[in-house]
Amino acid sequence: MESRSGKPRLPRATELAHRFVTECLGPGDRAIDATAGNGHDTLFLAELVGPEGKVVAFDVQPEAIEATRARLEAGGVADRVRLVRECHSRLADSIEGEWNAVMFNLGYLPGGDKATITRPETTLAAMEAALKVLAPRGRMMVVVYPGHPGGEVEAEMVERWAAELDQARFSVASYGFLNQTNSPPRLVVIEKR
Ligand SMILES: C[S@@+](CC[C@H](N)C(=O)[O-])C[C@H]1O[C@@H](n2cnc3c(N)ncnc32)[C@H](O)[C@@H]1O
Repeated sequence: MESRSGKPRLPRATELAHRFVTECLGPGDRAIDATAGNGHDTLFLAELVGPEGKVVAFDVQPEAIEATRARLEAGGVADRVRLVRECHSRLADSIEGEWNAVMFNLGYLPGGDKATITRPETTLAAMEAALKVLAPRGRMMVVVYPGHPGGEVEAEMVERWAAELDQARFSVASYGFLNQTNSPPRLVVIEKR
């Protein structure tokens, strides 16, 4: 997050998501990665929860599951992660109990098939399922990509849905750059009260 001058620059949506998760997730906690992809977020979560913690990561693509597995093994943290090749809308079938953090990083697998993208209907079902299992003071991150084909519709759906959550039960915030022409990713954060 440093610029060439050595001074910090404003964080990107994905960096900010990590920062917010770092504040709510620690050793022994439990986290869900709803879009494993190349495993960067899964590895990040697995390192934060430590050997006593647990992470479950979902992806529909076998390549993503294998890339994530390889990254976790290289990082020596595969033992605390369960990889599920399943649509995240079926999240409730694979998990139980309360979870301290949930990450969604929507869109397509970088370097992979751009036709396999997250879709508004299944994303909505997955976010609703994840909210139900979020622990008090647990946080859910949703990074949306309005610059991708189909991403603008999905981003608007996520933001509209999040804006309507009951404020007595959830705090909801959104972050993004206002003056960039290339529609950079935005972050929606939901914290359970
Ligand atoms: C932007 S990538 C995720 C990046 C990942 N978090 C990382 O750190 O590398 C989005 C991923 O969502 C996956 N995906 C798309 N639809 C899905 C669904 N219905 N359920 C679960 N994963 C899905 C894609 O296969 C892709 O790997």
